[in-house]
Amino acid sequence: MTSRAPLVIAVDGPAASGKGTVARALAAHFDLPHLDTGLLYRGVALALLRWGGDPDSEFAALRAAQELNLDSGDPELRSEMVGGIASRISAYPAVRSALLERQQAFAGQPGGAVLDGRDIGTVIAPDARVKLFVTASAEVRAERRLAELEKRGLPAHLPDVLLDIRARDERDSHRAAAPLRQAEDAILLDTSELDIAAAKARAIQLAEAALV
Ligand code: DC
Repeated sequence: MTSRAPLVIAVDGPAASGKGTVARALAAHFDLPHLDTGLLYRGVALALLRWGGDPDSEFAALRAAQELNLDSGDPELRSEMVGGIASRISAYPAVRSALLERQQAFAGQPGGAVLDGRDIGTVIAPDARVKLFVTASAEVRAERRLAELEKRGLPAHLPDVLLDIRARDERDSHRAAAPLRQAEDAILLDTSELDIAAAKARAIQLAEAALV
């Protein structure tokens, strides 16, 4: 019976959709470890930046991925610039396969796990017992990103943030290797009209219902 398999929860979605918040809430609710897989791609991007490596070189990005020593507490990982480069280097198949094993090992823990990213339900953990695809309109996501930037003392302009979000969506959804897409068996959670508390509560409710 699939219900006896470890509880693996896959949470995918575009930038600033709320997937990280939802994934952390699910991890806390089900008492599972959580991996934000975007941080791996961000870690590769940041390492490249610090070495002065060329993000247009798949070879340089692959080396950074192979040597990745992630410090998830590094605030630079969360910068917009690193996010943009992460989106570019994540299109390289060699980078994706260099990071695959680490993600699958995390998903394969005997007690289960929650992972969030772009390809968790489609590539990393296709057998996950619960798959959520979290989304929101580009406008709502841009407003959230803007508020987040302002909170970190990094004021920006909404039209620029919106352009950036759209460019990232375009790249993440149209690359050949493991593009962002909703798995056929994933449940759609649109957070456009939901605040944080409501999005978390809805995600828990959907996951509980999927496990019955
Ligand atoms: O979720 P995030 O914004 O931190 O992710 C940064 C970039 O990393 C994103 O634009 C695409 C890439 N990514 C990916 O290709 N696959 C994942 N599972 C997670 C992130």
